[in-house]
Amino acid sequence: MAPVGALLLGYLLGSIPFGVLLTRAAGAGDLRTIGSGNIGATNVLRTGRKGLAAATLLLDLGKGAAAIWLADALLPGMTALAAAAVFLGHCYPVWLKFRGGKGVATLMGVVLALYWPSGLVYAVVWLGLLAVVRISSVAGMSAAISAPVSAAFFGRIDLVLLLLALALIVLWKHRDNIDRLLSGAEPRVGSKRG
Ligand code: G3P
Repeated sequence: MAPVGALLLGYLLGSIPFGVLLTRAAGAGDLRTIGSGNIGATNVLRTGRKGLAAATLLLDLGKGAAAIWLADALLPGMTALAAAAVFLGHCYPVWLKFRGGKGVATLMGVVLALYWPSGLVYAVVWLGLLAVVRISSVAGMSAAISAPVSAAFFGRIDLVLLLLALALIVLWKHRDNIDRLLSGAEPRVGSKRG
């Protein structure tokens, strides 16, 4: 029963589409018809509401961490399953016909809660590249890749396969961004296009 509990707990938590809910509640429209159509904080920022974007970032990150902490407290030994489930819930939520987010913020919450040193590296890579390159997708994909790399570097071999699988899903979810990057059409954060 514990594995089913971890899957359900993680998936249901992960599938709460905070970006869509907050944007709608603020009367800013349907996030899925704005900008890239993604449900994450970067796209919420394109509505011009910085506070909403920050709240989306924190809530998407928080649900990732919360799933791990809850599984740890209620279902010992099930944290890896809860990690995968909360991430997949965010990326493929049943409530949005499985068209969810790209997983960058939720994965950061997961990594922070699973093993904070790798979470710290993730945050530094993400925020550092965001500040320097100002392309959200580049920063997010790089941060995701840093997770299995830093886990291996720090000797947490038990986490490498899980984090590698989740990072590969982050890359897969960014395939439109990768196309735009290759054609030079990916917008920078804060630019007119986004
Ligand atoms: O975290 C999502 C980000 O990496 C890309 O978002 O809206 O520019 O596709 P977006």
